[in-house]
Amino acid sequence: MSYFADKQDLVADIFSRYPSSPQGKRSALMPLLREVQDAEGYVTKDRMHEIAALCGTTATEVRSVMSFYSTYHTLPTGKYHLQVCSTLMCALAGSDDLWDELVSQLDVQAGEVTPDGRFSLQKVECLGSCGTAPVVQINDEGFYENVTPTRCKHLLTALRADNKPLPDNKIPVMVNSAGLQVLYSGQAAGGPHEFLSPLSDTDLPPKPEAKEVKP
Ligand code: FES
Repeated sequence: MSYFADKQDLVADIFSRYPSSPQGKRSALMPLLREVQDAEGYVTKDRMHEIAALCGTTATEVRSVMSFYSTYHTLPTGKYHLQVCSTLMCALAGSDDLWDELVSQLDVQAGEVTPDGRFSLQKVECLGSCGTAPVVQINDEGFYENVTPTRCKHLLTALRADNKPLPDNKIPVMVNSAGLQVLYSGQAAGGPHEFLSPLSDTDLPPKPEAKEVKP
């Protein structure tokens, strides 16, 4: 059954945001995918074909765009989809051990769902919160930061009881009228970009002196 057949107003609204050229039509691919992903939790082959037909492209191209973003899924995920950042800063801060702990606790591998449908796991690339590594994202709702083994254990206990704690930062990251990031607690963090200044030579460590290398 078509997903968009009875949503022509929505489709028209999405396409109205882009030029009517073939390239413009293809730009609507992402919001159409987002629409299906949000409504159904994943994007089937049929939906890829439907979106491809709307955008004047192929299902292969839709699939290839999806493969670039960890936010799109081709299979159903668990009620709590745990996404563990595995990029360098999180890896240095222990995300491999965190991943192993989650795999062992939940008895699932990447892409699998626990038999009760509650959990699924995925490794993702940098979530942009490297200063608070290791970071876990749950669903599309928020970041859980500095996830130590103890915090991981508490998090799983809470999720098993459907008592999801508030994330440290929600998604998308909120910015207040002064341009400062607003944490989930309501506190402002960081500073506006106009206060940043480029590094000068005096900010940099001295260059090591060149030494002659003897053969
Ligand atoms: S490396 Fe994990 S958030 Fe950037």
